[in-house]
Amino acid sequence: MAISSNMHDDIEETLISEADLQARVRELAAAIQRDYAGKDLVLLGILRGAIMFMTDLARQLSMPLNMDFMAISSYGNATESSGVVRILKDLDDAIEHKHVLIVEDIIDTGLTLRYLMEILENRNPASLAVCALLDKVKEREKLIAPMYTGFEIPDRFVVGYGLDFAQKYRNLPYIGVLKPSVYSE
Ligand code: IMP
Ligand code: MG
Repeated sequence: MAISSNMHDDIEETLISEADLQARVRELAAAIQRDYAGKDLVLLGILRGAIMFMTDLARQLSMPLNMDFMAISSYGNATESSGVVRILKDLDDAIEHKHVLIVEDIIDTGLTLRYLMEILENRNPASLAVCALLDKVKEREKLIAPMYTGFEIPDRFVVGYGLDFAQKYRNLPYIGVLKPSVYSE
């Protein structure tokens, strides 16, 4: 694995530019604002991938809301999720009778989210929905239907805007695809 001193040098292709990300976040925020008007909304960010999306989205919403975070790790190897989720950090506050919107970076197999939603449903929220920045277009065992999706992307491994490879590249301001040399050396 060879990571350059300038992260941008490791990107083969920009998939979604910074301007396109910001424009889409504003659109998503407008839809959320409309749908959750007058409701007690909790934005539930999934650490660590959703941090950039979560903070940008929250800043585009003008209604009062709570922000809470969960850190989960899915059992399995680095690139393949097993669908069994371990909670590393739970929510700080109870969600009973609250309208919970899970803010997630990307839906790949959808297994992580499916498991997480089961856990959260048991806590009796008033409603539970998903806002995912990216949705990989692929066959899924059981479809997770996110209420809000930023972009549908091809089934490739992407980094940036919160998404990592080996914990790096989260701070890229755009979504990109890594050069194969980064993986293979
Ligand atoms: P799923 O259970 O397969 O849907 O796994 C989703 C999680 O895997 C996401 O929350 C990401 O943390 C991670 N992930 C999936 N695809 C990518 C990718 O292309 N780049 C970086 N992380 C990814
Ligand atoms: Mg994640």
